[in-house]
Amino acid sequence: MSIDYGTDAPVTLRNLALAGVAGLALGLVGTALPRAHPLSRLRTASLSAGIGFSLAAGLMVVYARVGKFRHRDRMLAMLPLRGDEHILDVGTGRGLLAVAAARGLTGGRVVAIDIWNAEDLSDNRRARTEEVLRLEGVSDRVTLEEADAERLPFADGSFDAVVSNLCIHNIYNAPGRHEAIGEIVRVLRPGGRAVISDYRHTSDYARYFREYGMTAVEERGPYLWDVFPPLSIVVATKPTAS
Ligand SMILES: C[S@@+](CC[C@H](N)C(=O)[O-])C[C@H]1O[C@@H](n2cnc3c(N)ncnc32)[C@H](O)[C@@H]1O
Repeated sequence: MSIDYGTDAPVTLRNLALAGVAGLALGLVGTALPRAHPLSRLRTASLSAGIGFSLAAGLMVVYARVGKFRHRDRMLAMLPLRGDEHILDVGTGRGLLAVAAARGLTGGRVVAIDIWNAEDLSDNRRARTEEVLRLEGVSDRVTLEEADAERLPFADGSFDAVVSNLCIHNIYNAPGRHEAIGEIVRVLRPGGRAVISDYRHTSDYARYFREYGMTAVEERGPYLWDVFPPLSIVVATKPTAS
C-alpha cells in the first residue's frame, strides 16, 4: 500500500491547472476562428500560456508522487547519522522527513513540529500525520508537537540535527524567517547540523546561519530534474564548543 504524503500548495496547483485548461481552450478556439477575427491573434499566446501552466501543474503532481521521496533521501544523506541522534523536523506536514529519519534510528528520537496550515499541504491535519506514523510503524520513535518555527518550545542545544523542507518560506516576512533560522541554531547542539531545503530565500537562510556563527554553510542546487518548483538545500554546521 502506498502512503499519501500530501500535495504541496494545493490551491496553487488547482489554479495552475485551471489556468492551463483555460489557456489551452482559448488557444484552440483561436485556431478555429477566421484569421481576421480579433481573438484569433491571441491563439499563440493562449496556447503557450496553457501549455506552460499545465506543465507546471503536472510537474507539481510528479513531485508530490515521486520527486519528494527522492529529495527527502537526498536531504537525509547530507546528515552523517549514527542512529542514536535526536532529530527535529520543522514543518513536518505528513511526516515526510520525520518518518525516513526515524527508520534510520536505532536508539535516538525524532521530534516533528508543525502548525498544520491548510494552504500549505492537502488535507493538512495532525490526525493525518499520526495515521502516517502508525502506518509506517514509527509512532514509537517520533513525537509530534504543534509548534511554530519562529518559537521552538525546546531547550538550547537539545538536537543533534534539524531538517526542514518547504516550510520556512511560508513565514511571509524576512524578520520572521530570520527568527526561525535563529531558533534552529539555538536548539542545535555544538557540532550539530541543519539541512534546510526550500524553493526560495535559501541564500538568505545561508547568510542568516553565518550571522548566527554557523560554519561550513553551503548552498546546493537548485535541483531541477525531480522537484518542482526547483529546490535548493542549505547545509549548516554549528561549531563545536572550544
Ligand atoms: C509544503 S508543506 C511541506 C511538508 C513537509 N516538510 C514535506 O516536505 O512534505 C509545509 C509545511 O510547513 C508547515 N508550516 C508552515 N509555516 C509553519 C510555521 N511557521 N511553523 C511550523 N510549521 C509551519 C505547514 O503547515 C506545512 O505542513
